[in-house]
Amino acid sequence: MTDYKSLMLQAQEARKKSYSPYSHFCVGAALLTKSGKIYTGCNIENAAYTPTNCAERTAIFKAVSEGERDFEAMAIVGGRANEKGGFCAPCGVCRQVISEFCEKDFEIVLGDEEDLKVYKLSELLPFSFSKNDL
Ligand code: THU
Repeated sequence: MTDYKSLMLQAQEARKKSYSPYSHFCVGAALLTKSGKIYTGCNIENAAYTPTNCAERTAIFKAVSEGERDFEAMAIVGGRANEKGGFCAPCGVCRQVISEFCEKDFEIVLGDEEDLKVYKLSELLPFSFSKNDL
């Protein structure tokens, strides 16, 4: 049984590193590989706005760039800088990037450590377009 509470705590730790001087909205993510490693990420904003990278993609890109491609679950937490992080559903771009590397049963853990909600990728991105469609 995967310990999603500790995965969420790691997402909250990662959220502390958020670089979000424009939106003041801080997001953290913790990505669990099938081999049991955890890669974390935060959102990283940019003065030109569109180069901003979400926390989820930071975590995935860190992992893939280290040779990891088999993923089990990801915890995500977000909220305004001056508030405790909580439920933050991944944006559409991040859902698509997750779907590039993860199966339909990949689990996405939202909320906070006291109140975790677990969703399958197929629930958050139904009728997805993937490499199987090419
Ligand atoms: N953000 C994420 O990091 N992940 C999401 O799934 C939603 C949005 C970031 C991007 C931007 O830095 C800030 O939250 C406000 O949109």
